[in-house]
Amino acid sequence: MNSTENQTVGIIGGTGLTTLSGLNVTGTQTVSTPWGAPSSELTEGSLHGQPVVFLSRHGNPSRIPPHEVNYKANMKALYDAGVRTVIGVNAVGGIHPDMTPACVVIPDQIIDYTWGRASTFFEGDLDAVTHIDFTWPYDNTARDILIQTAKKREVLHAGFGVYGATQGPRLETAAEIRRMERDGCDLVGMTGMPEAALAAELGMRYVCLGLVVNRAAGKSDHIISMEEIEAAIAQGMSGVRQILATSMADLGALTALA
Ligand code: HPA
Repeated sequence: MNSTENQTVGIIGGTGLTTLSGLNVTGTQTVSTPWGAPSSELTEGSLHGQPVVFLSRHGNPSRIPPHEVNYKANMKALYDAGVRTVIGVNAVGGIHPDMTPACVVIPDQIIDYTWGRASTFFEGDLDAVTHIDFTWPYDNTARDILIQTAKKREVLHAGFGVYGATQGPRLETAAEIRRMERDGCDLVGMTGMPEAALAAELGMRYVCLGLVVNRAAGKSDHIISMEEIEAAIAQGMSGVRQILATSMADLGALTALA
């Protein structure tokens, strides 16, 4: 594959991934958008020969909580940098029994429980009311690439799942998780939305790489601690990094949707 013809891939790093080791950095850009500044500077470089732009969702150092992330600025900044395929890396809680700490999940659906976030570009002074199709919130071609890579690299993973996006920053109650389970959620996180919907509005391919950092509330015999989360990040982030590095060229070779 000739990566010089490839599209730039955007990587949004979440909790535990504020910088991307292995990225051959060629430059950093501090940018702004009509919706303000993104969470961090854009780091440009190449990962295994594939052009990449990296953005840290919570800032670098990590200081912006999930409900205060400027998702519109983040997505527009990546779009303006030429990105048409985005991988959102998210720390998540596991609800499905297979989704244990350090498991990497490539979900296929979303249920949005967030509220009060700036969640659309289609508002304000519009020429026409616009509704995007969001039947498949994650790009299935990009998902397949990540799943095949996880299999090849023998990374503990689940290539399915409904991502329940909660408001945070507090974790959920056990009853909230039971309700989410009844709704069909397999994993829970605080940053999956509106990121995925904004990517769709901009016509970008978007895929989630979720690292399970704890069993969701009430799904284990102990309460959730930051120590547990940090230990799972330390254990599981190498799998995320392996998948990212190995799938980059194939993701870059995808054609732009729009
Ligand atoms: N709930 C919501 N978000 C999360 C969790 C969780 O259990 N773990 C990591 N992000």
